[in-house]
Order: sequence, then structure tokens, then C-alpha cells
Amino acid sequence: MSALPSPTQSERARLVLGIETSCDDTSVAILERGQTLRAHLIATQDVHRLYGGVVPELASRAHLELLPRLTAQALAEAQVTPQVLTAIAVTHAPGLVGSLVVGLAFAKAYALGLGIPIVGVNHVEAHLHAAALEHGDSPFPAIALVVSGGHSELVHVRAVGEYRWLGSTLDDAAGEAYDKVAKVLGLSFPGGPEIDRRSREGRADAFEFPRPMLDRPGYDFSFSGLKTAVLQALAGREAPYDAAFVADVAASFQAAVIDCLVARTERALDDTGARALTLGGGVACNRELRARLTAACERRGIAIRVPSPRLCADNAAMIALLGAWMLDRGITSDFSLDAVAALEESGLRTAGG
Ligand code: KG4
Ligand code: ZN
Repeated sequence: MSALPSPTQSERARLVLGIETSCDDTSVAILERGQTLRAHLIATQDVHRLYGGVVPELASRAHLELLPRLTAQALAEAQVTPQVLTAIAVTHAPGLVGSLVVGLAFAKAYALGLGIPIVGVNHVEAHLHAAALEHGDSPFPAIALVVSGGHSELVHVRAVGEYRWLGSTLDDAAGEAYDKVAKVLGLSFPGGPEIDRRSREGRADAFEFPRPMLDRPGYDFSFSGLKTAVLQALAGREAPYDAAFVADVAASFQAAVIDCLVARTERALDDTGARALTLGGGVACNRELRARLTAACERRGIAIRVPSPRLCADNAAMIALLGAWMLDRGITSDFSLDAVAALEESGLRTAGG
């Protein structure tokens, strides 16, 4: 019997199962031809609310339970059998190592059983491009701002795969600062949405919180000093704090974080002559941040690409998208993929110099 011709590159990308388990969201997507989402499920693990933050061991266990169920449900929603999937794309870096390992083991076993290729996707790279699912191809060069519980990254995107890292946080990520400030105010986890909501009733000028790093050159962020300033504002008061006080602290804190993010991003846009700005990460759900950056782009006459909240937060659709692109470019299947916890060790920051 003569060997079957190997599938063309684009045939491998025809129906990709995306798997995301890098932190505390378990997500599965089925993406057709890099464009049509046939199914997209995100299970947010509520168990972490009890602890006021993500507990890595519990996250791994929950991924283990949720992944097979979500995959079965995604296939049912897409009305396809596993046998018609053409490839699997799975997050392999960066993230909580135990959580990544669960996704990788599941993806490898599934791909091996079906005899289809598997590709490993970098989670932060997927955030850089998630907007393409709704907005199509980006004009380049672009600036991408990825702000989440684990990252605050400002990246000059010259093309897909060609990145120049402009800035990162020197301490806490923007979302982490939101979550920590919410915790000291007695608000529930995750803190970003709560602070965002409360700040609408507060006065942004009630407290003069610092805007760290703004007087310095470059594009890095720092949020730990801001967190300390919030703690100082609470000194001498007893919890639980009254709602008006919480709203004022929330509004003043949010104004400071957003001033920092916006100022750095505007500088990056002006210095690089970017033609578009792309947002990603859970903090990009913030209405005020979206509004300020939209206005900044309008003033410059450049495109702003903001994913819907579901695609800002951790999701498998963006993983399937990057996987489809990799398969199209001819990346070979890799069953020896390993989990890589740190962004610095994932190779992304040096991709394309
Ligand atoms: O991308 P994501 O879902 O998960 C990772 O951390 O990778 O981001 C979650 C983060 C949390 O820190 C959460 O507090 C923050 O995004 N967040 C927000 C808002 N919604 C979520 N921060 C500010 N404003 C929001 N509306
Ligand atoms: Zn993320």
C-alpha cells in the first residue's frame, strides 16, 4: 500500500482543538480554519474565592476534573466527533507549572490517541493576538499592552512572531495590584471587577496616590509602591470600612493605575510610530482603561483593537488561533513539549529581537 500524501499545512489547521490551563481558568475551544469558533468554553474555578487568591494545587486538580468534561461538551456544541479534529494547540508556557502539566498531559494523550499533531502555544503571545479573532489581521507595526493577574507587558509587535519587549512590571502585575488592594479593602476575589464597580461611586481625587515610574524614561511599570500607599490610607481605621470610603479608595487607586498604564502606552505609540494598539489580559476588561486608550488612539488616528471581555481574559480560543497560525507556517508536531513556568524562560521575549 502506498503511503498517503501528508496533509497540507493548511489542512492541519482546519479544525484545531485549543486547550488552556495556565492558571485558574480551564478553557477549551474548537476553531475552524483559524477563523470560526465552533465552540468555546471557559470554566472559572470558583474554589479560589474561598482563599482570596489562586491556590496552585487546587487549580491543577480542578483542571484535571474539568478538562475531559469541557472537551466532550465543546465537541458536542461544535457537532463534531474527535476523529475530525486536525490538530491540538495547548498552552505550554508561561503559567503555574502544575496547571500547565495537566493541560499538556491531556493534550498529548488526546493527540496521540487520534494520531494528530500537537503544538505548544505561548500564553502571552496568544494574548498579544487574541484581538484578531474579532478584529481580523492587525496593521503592523503595533503596540500590544497585556495586563492581567500575572503580567503587565508592553510589546512592540513588528509582525506575528517578531517582538521587541518594551516594558514589564518591576514588581506586581497590574491585576495583582488590583487583587491585593481589593483584599485589604475586604472585597472579593478577583478584585479587578469589584474595584472597577466600586470606583464608579467614588471620587478619583479623594486620595493622592503615587504614579510610580512616570518620571522615569522607558516603559516599565511598578505597582508595589501604590499598594503601600493604599495601606497607609487605611492606617488608623477599623475594617469593615464604610462603602463611601471604599469607593473613594477604589476610585483613587484605579485612577493611579490607569494613569500609569496609559502614559507608558502613549509613549510607546509615539516612540514607535505604531499603526495600531492591541489590548489583552483580564485588566483590559476595565471600562475606564479601554475608554482612555481608545481616546488616545483616536487622537493619533490609529486603530485600537480591544477584544471582548471573554477574549481578554484567559481563554482557549486565542490558543487555538495561535496554534492554527503555527500549523499554517509549517511548525512540526511536538510530543516532547514541556511546561515552562516563567515568561523569561519561554523564549518569547527574545523572539525576533
Ligand atoms: O487574564 P486574566 O483572566 O488571568 C490572568 O491573570 O492571566 O486576568 C485576571 C486579572 C485579575 O487580576 C483581575 O482582578 C483582573 O484581571 N481584572 C480586572 C478587571 N476584570 C478583571 N482588573 C481591572 N478591571 C477590571 N474590570
Ligand atoms: Zn492570561
